[in-house]
Amino acid sequence: MYVFSDRINRLKPNVIRESLKLMGDPSNISLAGGNPSKESFEYDTIQEIASELLAGKPGVLLQYGITEGWDPLREAYIKHILEPKGMKAGLDNILITTGGSQGLFAALSVFLNEGDTVLIEAPTYLGTLMMLNYLGINCVSVEMDEDGMITDDLEEKIKQHNPKALYTIPTFQNPTGYTLSLERRKKVAELAGQYGFIVIEDDPYCDLRYKGEPLPTIKSFDESGNVVMLNSMSKIIAPGIRVGVAFAEAEIISKLTVAKQCIDLHTPTLSQAICAEYLNRGLLPGHLERTTPMYRAQLDTMLDAFAKYFPAGIEHSKPEGGLFVWVKLPGDMDINEIFKKAVEAHVLFVQGAPFFYDESLAGSTLRLNFSASPPDQIDLGMQRLGKVITEAFEKKGS
Ligand SMILES: Cc1ncc(COP(=O)(O)O)c(C=O)c1O
Repeated sequence: MYVFSDRINRLKPNVIRESLKLMGDPSNISLAGGNPSKESFEYDTIQEIASELLAGKPGVLLQYGITEGWDPLREAYIKHILEPKGMKAGLDNILITTGGSQGLFAALSVFLNEGDTVLIEAPTYLGTLMMLNYLGINCVSVEMDEDGMITDDLEEKIKQHNPKALYTIPTFQNPTGYTLSLERRKKVAELAGQYGFIVIEDDPYCDLRYKGEPLPTIKSFDESGNVVMLNSMSKIIAPGIRVGVAFAEAEIISKLTVAKQCIDLHTPTLSQAICAEYLNRGLLPGHLERTTPMYRAQLDTMLDAFAKYFPAGIEHSKPEGGLFVWVKLPGDMDINEIFKKAVEAHVLFVQGAPFFYDESLAGSTLRLNFSASPPDQIDLGMQRLGKVITEAFEKKGS
């Protein structure tokens, strides 16, 4: 019998990681995960870049590196990702992290003590909820609609709870697919200055836009220096490469760097060098041009399937990008029973509850992913799920 820490005993295993086991069964259609399509991976290009990088046996690529990150990648990120979006940064504003996840953990760790209060969206990314729970942070949920976090509710909660930080996923949010409107982005940056709290802007999906016009980041409106922007190569190059970026005031980056030294010293240099080359060879725009029509077709197949296979009156989000669609069933429907029937029908989704700090707010909600399966599989999966939900509706009505 081992005696584990209170911190780890507070946590339940991540339900999505657990359902990866069911996803391994090929008879199941998974609308559950958050994986980018494996069709999007550029195997040949990455192989070519890696072998060219290693050809001259450069010791630096396999040696320990500095914690702040591989300088060519920090420079390439500024030039190819920030500047085209109208953002300016120096090297001391950039820390390379091991996935966006590490930037998140570091940002929460450097600003928050146990018992501090953070405002979060309801619902939000469950990886962040796990981290907040692990760190013993008190969370207060802010309401959302199709335009993201409701800033009137946000201001109300700021006045009531005097939070140290706000965590937000402004673009194609996980799990809802909602995007924070331009006006609300400006308002969030303004409130951060006015009330003096930190905004952790987690934006890994912003470049996965299949319709509509891009929006500026919250960080673009940051006059107080209180916004920490987190980004990731996971959804635009490949998650297995484990490269993310934190962009903030130099003083914040220094502290995040110390936090990262506690975790892993530095992000694998070879991964960073591959990303730097990928960006410097100008490959990202072409890659996004190739993947956008594929994801758009998958998204449209999923949205069209609601009308074809689902009972009338089901609410769902209509995102213009990202990986997820959020579904709200009438509150009296038993989502756990629907989940069981869906597994029997060989279609997987994620129930809404784990995305809420206060699970009583979840009602009968669920998250669907459209990025990991081709359109014919999405259509079949939605047909199976529509049948399960239609039968549950009929049972409820009888
Ligand atoms: C909102 C959000 N933030 C962060 C992450 C972590 O991404 P990674 O660590 O792969 O960059 C994810 C992954 O799904 C996510 O959805």
